[in-house]
Amino acid sequence: MSFADRRVLVVGSGSEGEALAQACRAAFEGARLETAVPDAMPAQWPAGHEPELVVLESGADPVALAELIAGLAKAAQPPAAILAGAGLSAGLVRGLLRLPRADVVEAPFGPRELAEAAQLLLRPAETLVVPAAPTGGRCWTVTGAVGGAGATTLAIELAAALAERSQGQKRVALVDLNLADGAAAAYLGASANMMLGRASQEPERIDAALLEVFASPAPGGFDLIAQARDPHGFETASAEAILRVLDVAIQVYDFVIIDAPRHRRGWTIDVMAGSDALLVVSELTVPALLAARALVSELEAELHDGPLPRIVLNRLAKRVFGPAPSTAEAEKALGRKAEGGLTSDWEAAAASVNLGGPIRSHRPKSRIARDVDDLVDRLLAAVPHSHIKAA
Ligand SMILES: Nc1ncnc2c1ncn2[C@@H]1O[C@H](COP(=O)(O)OP(=O)(O)OP(=O)(O)O)[C@@H](O)[C@H]1O
Ligand SMILES: [Mg+2]
Repeated sequence: MSFADRRVLVVGSGSEGEALAQACRAAFEGARLETAVPDAMPAQWPAGHEPELVVLESGADPVALAELIAGLAKAAQPPAAILAGAGLSAGLVRGLLRLPRADVVEAPFGPRELAEAAQLLLRPAETLVVPAAPTGGRCWTVTGAVGGAGATTLAIELAAALAERSQGQKRVALVDLNLADGAAAAYLGASANMMLGRASQEPERIDAALLEVFASPAPGGFDLIAQARDPHGFETASAEAILRVLDVAIQVYDFVIIDAPRHRRGWTIDVMAGSDALLVVSELTVPALLAARALVSELEAELHDGPLPRIVLNRLAKRVFGPAPSTAEAEKALGRKAEGGLTSDWEAAAASVNLGGPIRSHRPKSRIARDVDDLVDRLLAAVPHSHIKAA
């Protein structure tokens, strides 16, 4: 969510008030931020100048704060409010609960905690979601057999190919579940707006309106749902919240492509089991093929009634020189056929990540675009796994 031009009022006094104002400036980039002391607040704001969000410093004079909160509650459309600080008094919190949209952020906190709380409060009112089909959209998950195999690249190209085919008629989302340092946002030059930390404490609040706040438009005609870089991203997001984001996404979008982390998390198997197709990307090197073979057998053993993992071979050379295995040799090493392959095209791949966007937008003639089209044809033709289950 962008806070640009949002009217935010920070109420506090002394050095603690100043510290809170500073944290708010960092949390709400581009917002129109004003500061005030609790007992010098206008009784009413001129129309169009009412704050949309009031952030109150809990250490300020309690009587003045209580009066202020009561005053806010009387407004025809009370602003969203956050009470932030240590030693929150029960009386103040009770007063705060009279406001339709309020939350408490306990110390120690930083800009991120403030932004997460504000995202939940300022999300648009829940709109009625009419699922596209009784089963919702289709969901394809992509993961890599080894680091750098090309999972993110394939996920982006699949999303872009589906968006291009639907010509605006279908909604496509790419969800990057590499919650600590996902690369999809950087590859696309799009913003990463998902913040799962606070939403994980209240997963029932994850709805279509919050998903809209988490999503950002990406070049290529689809939405990106990715978490802003956060070294603790995996620890602060709960499995319930992640699965709920995906559930809502499948209701809202016709196609959901998931870039799944390579290292197993507690929720990985659930995410894969809920997908219609599961793609494991490998390179044509012996270690990568061995890793792909091992990963696929592990997944087959665990995904009892989930989708069968399919292998996509990446960076295929047009002609093989040197000791790199050919596709046929690779399939022999894998003990199975590959579902598809992407030609190696370093120039196109590098140009698109440097310019920001899918390869098919910047280098539509690249073999990679055609290879992805072939793969999409095959995946669309396959009976979705969820339909197999229903049958
Ligand atoms: N077919 C291809 N031809 C040339 N370069 C490619 C191709 N596919 C991917 N690349 C490049 O390889 C690098 C790694 O790709 P990518 O980030 O998609 O891999 P990944 O599996 O998502 O990696 P990670 O394990 O870090 O998540 C990127 O620089 C990407 O542009
Ligand atoms: Mg990746």
